[in-house]
Amino acid sequence: MKNYLSIHDLPSIKETVAEAISLKKNPLQFQDLGKNKTIGLLFFNNSLRTRLSTQKAALNLGMEPIVMNFGSEGWQLEFEDGTLMDQGKSEHIKEAAQVISQYCDVIAIRAFAGLQDKGKDEAEEVLESFKKYATVPILNMESSVGHPLQALADAITIEEHKPAKEKIKVVLSWAPHPRALPHAVGNSFAEMVLAHEDDFDFVIAHPEGYELDPNKTKGAQIEYDQKKAFEGADFIYTKNWSSYKDYGKVACKDSSWIITADKMALTDRAKFMHCLPVRRNVVVADEVLDSDTSIVIEQANNRTFSAQIVLKKIMENM
Ligand code: CP
Repeated sequence: MKNYLSIHDLPSIKETVAEAISLKKNPLQFQDLGKNKTIGLLFFNNSLRTRLSTQKAALNLGMEPIVMNFGSEGWQLEFEDGTLMDQGKSEHIKEAAQVISQYCDVIAIRAFAGLQDKGKDEAEEVLESFKKYATVPILNMESSVGHPLQALADAITIEEHKPAKEKIKVVLSWAPHPRALPHAVGNSFAEMVLAHEDDFDFVIAHPEGYELDPNKTKGAQIEYDQKKAFEGADFIYTKNWSSYKDYGKVACKDSSWIITADKMALTDRAKFMHCLPVRRNVVVADEVLDSDTSIVIEQANNRTFSAQIVLKKIMENM
C-alpha cells in the first residue's frame, strides 16, 4: 500500500482487521520496521486521539514522530497554481511538500472540510496537493470527506464486540449538535460497513434532509424514524453531521434525537459507539455513555492499532 487516503486503499478490510487484532496482542513485535524512519504529523485542525494514537503507533513500530500544528505554526500555504503570491500566503504547497518529504519518510495530514464550498471540500485540496507534490507516502488523519483511520478502528472494535449472529445490525444515527460538523466520520464509517455487506444489515437514521453523500451510502437503508431504526440493533454508532444537501448548514437541532437509555432498550443489547470527542447530554445522555453498553474508550484505544497496521503496510511497501 503506497498511501492511505481512504478505507478502500486497504487490500482487504477484513484481513487488515484480523491483522490489527493480532498486532494488538504484541504491539512491539515490529519495532525494527520503523527504525531510522520519521513520520511527520501535520495538523491543520485540532485533535486529541488522532494526534496521540498515531504517535503511539509510530513509536510502537520504532519510528520517530515529528508533530507540527500547521494551522497555527506553519506559513500559510498557497494551493493554486500560477498565483501572484502578493497577499497573506507565504509558501506554496509545491515547495512545502517537497521540503517536508526530505525530513520525513511518511507524511500524515489532518485538514478538515471548510463546509463553505462543497466542490472545494470534495476536491480534497490539501490532501491531494500533498499527494501530488510530496515524494513520500501520505496518510489521511481526517480530511474534508473521510476519516479512514477512525473507520478502521471502528471495524476492529465491531469485530471484537460482535455477537455470534449470522447478520449483525449496525445503525449509524445522526444526533444533535450546536455547531456545523463535517461529514468525514459518517462517510468513512458508511464506506467501511458497506464493504462488509454480507455480514451487516446497515441502517442510517437521520432527520429528513440530512442524507449524507449518496455516493458514500449506496446500499444502506435510510430511516427517518430513529426508534424504528434502533429495533433489534447490535451496534449504535452515533455522530452528528451538518446538512450535505444544504451544504454545511445546521438545519436541525432537534434534541429528541439524543441517544438515551430508553432508545438503547429498543435494541438487541446494542453496544454504543462514538468516535469522540462527544458532547454529553447533547449528543448522548450520561446514562448511556457511563453504562456498560458504551465501548467508546475501547474504540479510542483501537485508534493506535488502526494507525499501526496502516503504517506497517505502508513501510512494508517502501
Ligand atoms: N476521533 C478523533 O479523530 O478524535 P480527535 O479529533 O481528538 O483526533
